[in-house]
Amino acid sequence: MQTKLNEVRNKLQAYGQEHLLAFWPSLSDDSREKLLQQIDSIDFDLLQQLSGKAGKKEKPDSIEPISAEKWTEFDKSRQAELEQLGWSLLKQGKAAVLVVAGGQGTRLGHPGPKGTFDIGLPSRKSLFQLQAERLINLSGKAQKNIPWYIMTSPENDAETRSFFAEHHYFGYDENSIYFFEQGVFPAIDDKGKVLLARKDEIVMAPSGNGDCFPALKRNGILDQMKQEGVEWLFYYNVDNAIVRIADPAFIGYAAASGLQSASKVVRKSHARERVGILCMQNGRPAVAEYSDIPEELMLAADDKGQWLFPYANISMHLFHVNFVEKAAAYPMPFHAANKKIRTVDAKGDKVVPEQPNGYKFEKFIFDCFPLMERMALLEVEREDEFAPVKNKEGQDSPDTAREMLYHLHRKWLLAAGVSRELIEHQPVEISPLLSYAGEGLDSEVIRSILASRVV
Ligand code: UD1
Repeated sequence: MQTKLNEVRNKLQAYGQEHLLAFWPSLSDDSREKLLQQIDSIDFDLLQQLSGKAGKKEKPDSIEPISAEKWTEFDKSRQAELEQLGWSLLKQGKAAVLVVAGGQGTRLGHPGPKGTFDIGLPSRKSLFQLQAERLINLSGKAQKNIPWYIMTSPENDAETRSFFAEHHYFGYDENSIYFFEQGVFPAIDDKGKVLLARKDEIVMAPSGNGDCFPALKRNGILDQMKQEGVEWLFYYNVDNAIVRIADPAFIGYAAASGLQSASKVVRKSHARERVGILCMQNGRPAVAEYSDIPEELMLAADDKGQWLFPYANISMHLFHVNFVEKAAAYPMPFHAANKKIRTVDAKGDKVVPEQPNGYKFEKFIFDCFPLMERMALLEVEREDEFAPVKNKEGQDSPDTAREMLYHLHRKWLLAAGVSRELIEHQPVEISPLLSYAGEGLDSEVIRSILASRVV
């Protein structure tokens, strides 16, 4: 170990990171081994480059508006045609689903994986259960199980897997669910020093949802998908309570576009909403992330007062597997985020900072968009599809997501002929096992919903 130690010490000295061995004399052999392995896995050149950029706002360059097609403006026969095409792809097993669930969910303050979170519905279903049941519904109708790829991180992988096992995979086919881990990257302090989580452990944070394609490749899943004939991959965030997973209409829309990718968007709710914005950058489709958008772009409007950048990224994309393959090989850039990071002080005692004390680095999935010349954008209604759970309270919280779900399910019942007085001002939750998007609500089903309020 001595030779290895000398080698590592020299390397750390060259990068000004010798403090990582500050507690070496007090460590056990196992801890020493673990620490050396962690240090070995770090690309210090890259880290040095990134620490030079941390703290500087990344101003998006040459941004232009992008156009989208609106689902509600398609006539009924086109809508039916696209839906039918989507169903035929699902029936042939040509569509699969990928959820990015490796994030830390710090803003929500939930200690476990975000998908295990219960937003307080009468049924007490977790986000994962709502998603699983939507897949069960679709798979039943397609008579084909839809493969569900779940990206975890080293931090939450075991807990995510056991949550699924304890809940018997929510009734979905266990063999159609695949967990795989994303990568991690070291966190640094304001001076570029790598942070220690403990005396023998470096702070390694999940390296962003942009690692999902390389991770699919590393874990052999991309090859497996291709072998099984999957053509389209539906990508979504774990935290959207009303996400229409593998929406047949959207799959049909993407396939009919003749392009390699499609994205669903909604109109921004207000100018400064904390969402990425779909746009063209240097003549290619892109997302300008909310953390990087200058105020003047958020507010930019034409002479009639219409926003120039109205389309919010709701993280629902469809990618053709050929594109996934290409993007998996593309070195995506890292973005730095100033965060409160738990660490240890010079004595090795725990420090829980109250202010941001360092940087974590993440790759963003949409940084692969500019690899394409064009993308198909489909504008959908926010109230039908987007209820994110980001914060403990206030905007985009469990309270707002729950209310949006009730509102949506009331809307379905109204459309099915239920009178407003019967359902106003009270929770209405319809199980995804009964209805995926408001269909199938016949009088018997409605009676049972109204009898129990939860089905
Ligand atoms: C994300 C989008 C933003 C969009 C918003 C919509 C990115 C970079 N930004 O923002 O443009 O408007 O959602 O709700 O996607 N995740 C991982 N591994 C990681 C980090 C995150 O799997 O290392 C997952 C999270 O678990 C989550 C998703 O990525 O499912 C989005 O991450 P989050 O941090 O919640 O992104 P937002 O900032 O909300």
